[in-house]
Amino acid sequence: MVEVLSKISGARVVERCDRLGVQPFSDIKTGLFRAYLTPAHAATINTMVSWMSEAGMSTRLDAAANLIGRYEGNRPNAPALIIGSHVDSVFNAGRYDGPLGVMLGIECVEALHEQGRRLPFAIEVVAFGDEEGSRFPISMICSRAMAGTLTEQDLAVEDSAGRTPREVLQVFREWMYRPMSNIDPMTAAREPRDVLAYLETHIEQGPVLEAEGLSVGAVTGIAAQNRFDIVVKGMAAHAGTTTMQLRRDAMAGAAEMIMAIETIANEMGGDLVATVGRIELSPGSTNVIAKEVSFSLDVRSGGMNHRDTAAAAISEEMHKIAVRRGLKLELTKLQDLASSPCDKELTDLLETAMERAGHPRRALVSGAGHDAMVMSALCPTAMLFVRCAGGISHNPAEQVSIPDTQAALDVMLEFIDLLEARET
Ligand code: GLV
Ligand code: MN
Ligand code: MN
Repeated sequence: MVEVLSKISGARVVERCDRLGVQPFSDIKTGLFRAYLTPAHAATINTMVSWMSEAGMSTRLDAAANLIGRYEGNRPNAPALIIGSHVDSVFNAGRYDGPLGVMLGIECVEALHEQGRRLPFAIEVVAFGDEEGSRFPISMICSRAMAGTLTEQDLAVEDSAGRTPREVLQVFREWMYRPMSNIDPMTAAREPRDVLAYLETHIEQGPVLEAEGLSVGAVTGIAAQNRFDIVVKGMAAHAGTTTMQLRRDAMAGAAEMIMAIETIANEMGGDLVATVGRIELSPGSTNVIAKEVSFSLDVRSGGMNHRDTAAAAISEEMHKIAVRRGLKLELTKLQDLASSPCDKELTDLLETAMERAGHPRRALVSGAGHDAMVMSALCPTAMLFVRCAGGISHNPAEQVSIPDTQAALDVMLEFIDLLEARET
C-alpha cells in the first residue's frame, strides 16, 4: 500500500517562510525587509489569505491591518485561542523571526481541519503587521491595537517621510484584496470575553536551547523594554578654522554619550542591556563640524526597577556630558513596555505538551520583545521557543531546522489537545 503523506509539516512551514523572504514579499531586491504597511506587507497578506483559506479559515483584516484567520469552534462565537506572531521584519532580516509562528498557526488549523475536528473554542491565527518598529519609531503597534493598549499619542508618530500610521493605512487599504472598512487602529481592540488565550511560537534568537541540545523551550516571561529618541544639538562650524577648544561638536558629544551608555550598562550587570542601533547626523560633511546628531536608545531588563535605574543613570550622565560640552540635549521616551510574565498555568500546559511530544520540560526567559508581552494585557499568554542556529537573529544568517520546526508543530498540536481537555 502506498502511504499518502500529509502535506502538513514543519518542512512546509520553513518553505513558506523562505518563500516570504524574497520579492515581492520583501521591499528590497536582495535580502528581506518588510516594514509595516509597505507593498511587501500587502503582498504577504494577500498570499497568507490563500494559505489560511486552504486551511479552513475565514479571513479578515482588522483596523490596524492585522490579518486574522478564524477557524470556528463547535459552537458559534466561542472565545478564541489566538495563535499569532508578526510578519514585519528588521532591515536585512532573517526569514523566521515572526513568520515562523504565523505559519505554524496555519499548520495547526489545517491539521484540525483535515480531521474535521471542532473544539470548544475557536482558533484565530493572527499575523501582526508591526512588531519590530521598523517603520515608525515605536514598536508593537498592531498587537497593542488588538490588546487595547495603543494610545492616540502612539498614533502621532511619523515615518521617515513624515506620515502617521493612519495616513499610511489610507494608502494601504487600496492594495488589499480584502476590504478594510475601518482603518482606525484605536478601534481594533478585542473584548477579553472573546479571547481564551494567546499562544506564540518564535525562534529563540539566543543560544540557550542550542547549548543544551534542545529543540524547544517554554518561555516564562519577557524582559521590559524602553525606547528613547535622543537629539544632541551643537553648532555647525568650519572644520579647518575652529579650534578644538571653541567647538560645540554634536558628533563628539554623541560619541561620548554612546560610550557612557555602554559603560553604565556593563556596570549595571545582570541581564541589563542597552543599545544604540540608529544614528543620524547633520549636515554630514567632511569639512563641517556636526550641528545635530540624533540616535535611538533601547534599554531592557527582566526587572523593571533594574531597567529604570539604568535609564535614569544614562540620562543623568548624558546631561552632564551635554553641559560640559556646551551642547543641548533632548531625550524623549517613545515607548515603555513592562516586563511580562507568561501565564503559569498555560506555561505548565505547554511544558506538559512538550513532554507528550517527546521533549524535556525546559523553561527560559526572553530578552527579545514579542507580541505576547503586549497580548498579556488582553488574555493569558504562553510562548514556545524554537532553537535557532548559533542563536543568530536580526541577521540574514538566521536559520531554523526542519526537525525543530516539526517539533514545535507537534508541541503546539499537543497543547491544543490539552487545552481542549481543559475546556471540555
Ligand atoms: C524585537 O525583535 C525586539 O526584541 O525588539
Ligand atoms: Mn525581531
Ligand atoms: Mn520577532
